[in-house]
Amino acid sequence: MSVAPTGFRPGLEGVPATQSAISNIDGQRGILSYRGYRIEDLAARSSFLETAYLLIWGELPDPEKLRDFQYDVQMHRRVSFRIRDMLKCFPASGHPMDALQASAASLGLFYANRALDDEDYIRGAVMRLLAKIPTMLAAFHMIRRGQDPIQPRDDLPYASNFLYMLTEREPDPLAARIFDACLVLHAEHTLNASTFSARVTASTLTDPYAVVASAVGTLAGPLHGGANEDVLLMLEEIGSEDRVEDFLDEAISARRKVMGFGHREYKVKDPRASILQGLAENLFDRFGHDKMYDVACRLEAVASERLGPKGIYPNVDFYSGLVYRKLGIPTDLFTPVFALARAAGWLAHWKEQLGANRIYRPTQLYTGASERDWLPLEQRCGDNEVPTG
Ligand code: SDX
Repeated sequence: MSVAPTGFRPGLEGVPATQSAISNIDGQRGILSYRGYRIEDLAARSSFLETAYLLIWGELPDPEKLRDFQYDVQMHRRVSFRIRDMLKCFPASGHPMDALQASAASLGLFYANRALDDEDYIRGAVMRLLAKIPTMLAAFHMIRRGQDPIQPRDDLPYASNFLYMLTEREPDPLAARIFDACLVLHAEHTLNASTFSARVTASTLTDPYAVVASAVGTLAGPLHGGANEDVLLMLEEIGSEDRVEDFLDEAISARRKVMGFGHREYKVKDPRASILQGLAENLFDRFGHDKMYDVACRLEAVASERLGPKGIYPNVDFYSGLVYRKLGIPTDLFTPVFALARAAGWLAHWKEQLGANRIYRPTQLYTGASERDWLPLEQRCGDNEVPTG
């Protein structure tokens, strides 16, 4: 990519826009670590809340700190009836990401006292958002189906409680464990687009609810978190392994992006994709196979041949939808689940930004008209014909 004389890089590709100690990616070797711990270890051995604590406060919690953190989050799971009533006013046909963005922002109405230099305020905001996002998301899902929301259960761990509020059934322990691992995998990923949004919003010293709402809106796009929903729709469109090559040939000749493939940082397979494949296979062994997985594996094999030389391989979104579908999560909740997990990373970056803040205000290369005199209405004609109202 040619660099304009003043360092302009479309999409800020390769431009460091902050200094951060939260996570790190080695895109050439396919390595991801949170606060120095490899994602493979965290996905296999940590829980989402333990990982969230690590991301936000920088160290793995000791048993007492973890117990207190889990208890605090549990005690903040309920939401005001006003939020439930607000969710009832949303159209049932609306996308859950829009409902999540609106409800996250609405928390700023209920917790308006902003004290960004107060550690207790920061901890309180972290608890509320991590605790209430699952409750609000599950509540919207039940309400759009014409049912009353299910109250959170204090006796269930984080991942189990979300699946319970979504399905009215306590999840199988293996399903809950695998879902919790998915949340760990999606919790953080350096300065991706939605995290960058979070930091820009945080840098103005607005409230953390606006920060998360800004990030949710960014994650919703199909080039970012929205891809996991599109991958499943793509696999269904392909339908069978023998149609993979034709699909791919057509996509490449039409220069259409293959959803779930490619990454700005990774030029090899996203390590999270490999871990998610293992989780998917565990679920299929236990709860039955999904033939879309065979289509996905075939697509990965053929696409890696055709697109691999350009550094285009599966990313985190390629297999996650197959795991969520086997867990009984509806397709249009895949991206909201991504947001639910990434709230931990967004909050870690919010806290880090506050610690060494300078408002984001980059510059631009002006490409517009040079200075010119005002043109009275009656003198404007020709190409710029003014519509006569
Ligand atoms: C996430 O940033 C993060 O960390 C994000 C994320 C996280 O955890 O937060 O990892 C989560 O968002 C994963 C990405 C999910 N999105 C998709 O799967 C959508 C499909 N992927 C592409 O849109 C794309 O790969 C991006 C957006 C992910 C990355 O885009 P870049 O780095 O801007 O690359 P590009 O669009 O400039 O493409 C470079 C070349 C182009 O070819 P040429 O014009 O040079 O010939 O690679 C091609 C592109 O056409 N290319 C693809 C492709 N992705 C890039 N070709 C086919 N299929 C693809 N998926």
